[in-house]
Amino acid sequence: MQGKLKNTIITAALPYANADLHLGHIASTYLPSDILSRYLRHGKANVIQVCASDDFGTPILIAAERAGKKPEDYVAYWRQRFEEDLGALGIRFDLFYKTSSEENVKLVQHFFTTLHKNGFIYPGDVEQFYCNVDKKFLPDRYVKGRCPYCGALDQYSDGCENCGRTLQPGQILDPKCSICGTPPVKKSSKHYFFKLSAFSDQLKDWLESNANLQSEPRNYVLNWIKEGLQDWDITRDITWGIKIPLPEADGKVLYGWFDNHLCYISTAIKASGKTGKEGIEFWNDSTVYHFIGKDIVYHHYLFLPSMRLGEGEYKLPDYIPTRGFLLLEEKKISKSRRWGITIRDYLGVLPPDYIRFYLTRITPYAQTDLNFDLEEFRSKINNELVANIGNFAYRSLVLLDRGYGRVVPQPGESGDAEKALAQARSKAFQESSKLIEAGGYDRALKAILEYSTSCNQYLQAKAPWEKRDGAETAIHASVNAVASLALLLEPFLPFASAELWRQLAIERPLSLEWEEGNKDLLRSGHKTLEPKPLFRKVEETDLESLRKFLEKK
Ligand code: MF3
Ligand code: ZN
Repeated sequence: MQGKLKNTIITAALPYANADLHLGHIASTYLPSDILSRYLRHGKANVIQVCASDDFGTPILIAAERAGKKPEDYVAYWRQRFEEDLGALGIRFDLFYKTSSEENVKLVQHFFTTLHKNGFIYPGDVEQFYCNVDKKFLPDRYVKGRCPYCGALDQYSDGCENCGRTLQPGQILDPKCSICGTPPVKKSSKHYFFKLSAFSDQLKDWLESNANLQSEPRNYVLNWIKEGLQDWDITRDITWGIKIPLPEADGKVLYGWFDNHLCYISTAIKASGKTGKEGIEFWNDSTVYHFIGKDIVYHHYLFLPSMRLGEGEYKLPDYIPTRGFLLLEEKKISKSRRWGITIRDYLGVLPPDYIRFYLTRITPYAQTDLNFDLEEFRSKINNELVANIGNFAYRSLVLLDRGYGRVVPQPGESGDAEKALAQARSKAFQESSKLIEAGGYDRALKAILEYSTSCNQYLQAKAPWEKRDGAETAIHASVNAVASLALLLEPFLPFASAELWRQLAIERPLSLEWEEGNKDLLRSGHKTLEPKPLFRKVEETDLESLRKFLEKK
């Protein structure tokens, strides 16, 4: 069976190894990627889901220096935190690797060499700040000075935190080296440029012909192409990065956006266990998804495909699912303004499935911004998760426990109500499947909730606790509906689902195929375990605990 399934590679954008992941990253990227992976693993595809820490770049080097650590150790610390946090949210990867891995360095240098040989990389001179005391070139973040617009002091040379403007190289006033404080001089430095402009036509064709891409980012990017693409400086004058594999490059390194997305390829191939030609074939024979947030559309729809086109061996992505930003109580997440909830913050207050449920409910397959509203969160959890799903599952299992010693009874003839319930189940499996495959995870979850509502109505109408005729039939149908729900919910609520499987005493649930859930999984005579409530209500005190992370200065 496994052999016949299509290989599918799923990646989620690589987090920079210098800060905790917050709920915004989860909503736009990691949760959608995990839902699809989990769903496909139920007999739909052979899935490899990967991610990695994005290790290189000036901000990370500076943060490591400030923390008094070697950059290698600094990024290793963050990578471990990412794995722990994502794991605690039930977001599982076949491999969570790093852009600084040996495999990635090798692939990136191969890309540079091939692109250079193919004429897509050329050298050019760039004026850069240079510090005569520290004897080095100073990239943006190593130069501080006065904002030419608002006069704010002590601003980095690439942008002003006070007025929010981005600054071009050389625009900052009274520049000072941020290491030693002396004014730097301007010095010419040899850089390398990637000929992005050479790919305009091929990119346009790809964007127009790949029907899997969302129309919003497609139209954006087509406009950028129409306005004319700029070639792209891929050199950085620092030591923390992948060395440019040319003797005359003087030990200079590649810009982080040259190497990071190649880590999708190096990591997926490593996870597949294949090497050499077989690794390339594995990549090219797979359906490839890159899940991202809308802030990195430019990089994923232009840099990434053009580098692959110029190198020539690795296929372009089939899907680049792109979603919007999460606002918290209508305000932008901001570290400096202390307005944000990290995974750790959240998990100190409530269980993982609650946030998975809420974020899935509010996140469409589009780039629109989302809003985390604490009151809405509470009401969705209490009215939908607790009162609908939790209530039906617990009531059904308690009825089985009290009335039948937890042994599934022999059903009688199916009546109209049972037929309607079976139809509702078929519809839930078919619709959720169709919607998940089209990226509409929010709508798929809604369809499953509607099924759960029908289940509650069925149980209420049959009232098997009155022990009338047909009580056995009703119990048999209800506990089987619980088993079906456990499968339907698995991509969305893996913890609640696992707990239901445990209570139902069903073995190897993760290897069930999706359509198998559309049948009665529990036979008469099957014995279950003691029922326990799946969820608890979200209280005002929980919201207060979450509000503590939103202290606007
Ligand atoms: N680290 C980048 C960011 O947080 C995302 C990199 S995704 C990659 O914006 F694929 F390009 F690596
Ligand atoms: Zn300013």
